[in-house]
Amino acid sequence: MNIEVLLTEAEIAEEFSDAMEARDLPEKFFYWTPLSVRAWKEFSCEANESLRQTWDALAGNAGELTKGFVGRIPVISFGAGDGSKDRILLKALRDAGREVKYFPIDASQTLLETACAGAEDDDCEALGLKADISSPVHLLLAADVSEAPRLFLLVGNTLGGFDPLDLIKQVGSCLHPGDILILDAQIAGGDEEPDEMRRRFVFAPLAGAGISPEDGELRFTGNADNRHEGLHLMTRRFQASRDLTMLVSGKEIHVERGERIFLNFRYRFSREALRWLLTNHGGLKLKGEIPSADGRYVTAICVR
Ligand SMILES: C[S@@+](CC[C@H](N)C(=O)[O-])C[C@H]1O[C@@H](n2cnc3c(N)ncnc32)[C@H](O)[C@@H]1O
Repeated sequence: MNIEVLLTEAEIAEEFSDAMEARDLPEKFFYWTPLSVRAWKEFSCEANESLRQTWDALAGNAGELTKGFVGRIPVISFGAGDGSKDRILLKALRDAGREVKYFPIDASQTLLETACAGAEDDDCEALGLKADISSPVHLLLAADVSEAPRLFLLVGNTLGGFDPLDLIKQVGSCLHPGDILILDAQIAGGDEEPDEMRRRFVFAPLAGAGISPEDGELRFTGNADNRHEGLHLMTRRFQASRDLTMLVSGKEIHVERGERIFLNFRYRFSREALRWLLTNHGGLKLKGEIPSADGRYVTAICVR
């Protein structure tokens, strides 16, 4: 298995304890430990089911989509996770007679190994890159693992776990003429109540540091992001109901009763806001949009 490392485990451990000290945990720590990965896999089944028809449609169209590519198609997936969606497309490209090389990019060693192993099981050449996609430098280095034209993926509502205005600019700036970006996003509206699986996923980094649900309260709060109409932000935070001591990367961190720890957030979008984000803000051209069968997601096909 080939994995190159821009972001080491030691760096992640150091960043994790700094983030706990700052009471603010970014997205990458929610996929870091085996406990988090397990919780995410349980919770992501539902989204995968919603997006299944979209991926079947993309797979059915894979040959046509990539007809501008000559020779081997580099597929670069930002925040690839376990690569299960990516593999549907990789297989379809190979069935369409195209040679493919897969580059999953992720901060989670466990998920990256799963993505590479899965591709290899399908006899697809893979090179994983362990990197931080919130770093513009890492993102550019990741994009440059292969020359244009490339097929980029940013899927599974990965966009919603970051500041979407920053991330789309950075991803957009990686795209060269001939490159294609397939990106999906969750549409705002409907049932936004956190279920038990979502709560377990959000709580997992705290559980790994020795905190239990009885130690405080987990709150989900929806807000509008006033930078543009149709950007909805769901924040999650934990408020300690007693004094706590966490053990984080071998370091003791004390949290006083009443203190809050900000957990990862999620953006959802109106369809208009997503179009604005990709085109007006991100400078991309929209070649197609595929709503999921249940209307909860939209998958967009973009070029520069
Ligand atoms: C919502 S999941 C989506 C995974 C996959 N694309 C899918 O569709 O199932 C987000 C992925 O981004 C990765 N991730 C989160 N923050 C990251 C960061 N700063 N740098 C690199 N990967 C990150 C996580 O490890 C996770 O695999």
